[in-house]
Amino acid sequence: MICHGLLRTLRLHAQTSTCKRAGFACQAVQRDSRYAALQRLDVDVFTAILGSQNVVQDTETLQSSNRDWMGKYVGQSQVILRPSSTQELSKVMAHCNDRKLAVVPQAGNTGLAGGSVPIFDEVILQTAQMNRIHSFDEVSGALQCQAGCILGELNEHLAAAGYVMPLDLGPKDKCQIGGNVSTNAGGLKLIRYGSLHGSVLGLEVVLANGTIIDTMTPLRKDNTGYDVKQLFIGAEGTLGIISGVSILCPPKPAAVNLMFLAVQDWSAALQTFVRAKRKLAEVLSAFEFLDSSALDLTLHQLPHIVNPLPDHQAPFYLLVETSGSNGDHDQSKLKDFLKEAKHDKLIQGGTVASDSAHIGEIWQLRENISVALNKAGKTYKYDMSLPVAEMYGLVEDVRQRLQKYPVRVVGYGHLGDSNVHLNVSTEEWDDDVLHDLEPYVYDWVADRKGSISAEHGLGQMKSQYIGYTKQPDTVDMMRDLKQLLDPNGILNPYKVLPEHVSFPSAVNDRLMASRSKSASY
Ligand code: FAD
Ligand code: MLT
Ligand code: ZN
Repeated sequence: MICHGLLRTLRLHAQTSTCKRAGFACQAVQRDSRYAALQRLDVDVFTAILGSQNVVQDTETLQSSNRDWMGKYVGQSQVILRPSSTQELSKVMAHCNDRKLAVVPQAGNTGLAGGSVPIFDEVILQTAQMNRIHSFDEVSGALQCQAGCILGELNEHLAAAGYVMPLDLGPKDKCQIGGNVSTNAGGLKLIRYGSLHGSVLGLEVVLANGTIIDTMTPLRKDNTGYDVKQLFIGAEGTLGIISGVSILCPPKPAAVNLMFLAVQDWSAALQTFVRAKRKLAEVLSAFEFLDSSALDLTLHQLPHIVNPLPDHQAPFYLLVETSGSNGDHDQSKLKDFLKEAKHDKLIQGGTVASDSAHIGEIWQLRENISVALNKAGKTYKYDMSLPVAEMYGLVEDVRQRLQKYPVRVVGYGHLGDSNVHLNVSTEEWDDDVLHDLEPYVYDWVADRKGSISAEHGLGQMKSQYIGYTKQPDTVDMMRDLKQLLDPNGILNPYKVLPEHVSFPSAVNDRLMASRSKSASY
């Protein structure tokens, strides 16, 4: 017997197509006629709920909120709503659901997959005004706050009590905790603090119809049935709008050191990683890499960024951070590690920063690679999970494949988490480059059982390729969950679960074979 969902997946696959918009891939979507267009009456209802100052329709603000951080995806929304409380958010959603008005949740708008901006005229729902901190328990480390709190501001609040947020990423002064949870952001410290699936203790979520689901517990342990909050972590605003977050925060480390090391090849980078895990063990808090192309581009585009190793040229550079409670203890571990790594000729050279200014300067380099890419032109940006030994092979392979084009291929990422960021920088969007990149890179990843999105999410960029990482039955189950929680499909439409799903050829053949088998019964 063939299940209903599988038939549906097959049917959808048969209609697969890719739309090329100005040289970059996006789904071949048309505005869904199920959704209502915004009327004067809707604006009146929103104004009655939120007050006129929180229903924004001026051209300038609409323009910037319709554009993503890369300036790649541009929507056509006619209204921005800014609730301050869960109750207001709930009333707004109930109205949108009744009227079938599509909604895009938007937090800091730093997402890199086009998830935070509309495609058509969806209502933009901004959480920036939901920025109150409810409580912080200095004994357990549990923080409870509204979803619109900015990550960097939460860190400042916690610093006074000697704590820190369990995640760190470049745009910390702009991104919001609700956006972080909705993308399941990884960032620079995942190797130390783990994924948000582990540190988020509870969530408050407003469903499409306005129902408020409250799981805002400060408890670490709760085995009463299904762990519902997990569904919303990484759902990119397609299942509900996160209004509150309860999260476990670790103590702020008293001693931090950051090494910037030059290594001669990928094998040496891997061996240095193994050595760091063994020798630095519990104090290891980051293990990042960038290639020479990333370093050169960043220094060229952003002259204020300092080269930590001006006298060394190497194919790869590593940022290895330690964080602990005892400076002497960490320094002694670090010295042992460096002595061994030098003795075994794993590293060519390096520098160690122990004061916060110097540490910050080196992190600036790593955190600004994507800023430099944005400045250089257009970027085909990929974010893959791959077996760590093979992950730089993708960058090398693509560099070779695109040799005939005037492009720069840049590799960097979270080596410690097996997450590579492949970036192809061009002056302008280019159909030929795109054609040589997609679906080639997604096939490359599927062949190695990797993930086409390690941390940025699918958004509108990668949604049609979900089948390159998720199996058809899993995609069908996701559709069922979406249908259950958002039957009118108003939450962030056209994202994550597309109408048309592509599968890599091996999965495709299996699907076709199972369909013809079932037809012969
Ligand atoms: P937005 O971009 O506004 O939204 C992201 C998604 O979540 C959208 O789909 C949106 O609809 C949805 N959403 C937002 N708020 C809510 C809510 N309250 N409820 C439900 N859905 C919601 N990401 C990493 O993982 N690691 C990195 O190291 C990293 N570095 C970055 C560096 C730079 C320079 C930039 C520009 C981005 C980087 N990112 C990184 C990507 C991005 O910053 C993260 O995805 C971040 O978590 C997004 O947060 P935001 O507040 O900007 O969310
Ligand atoms: C990073 O690690 O720098 C971010 O994920 C952003 C990017 O990939 O450009
Ligand atoms: Zn990253």
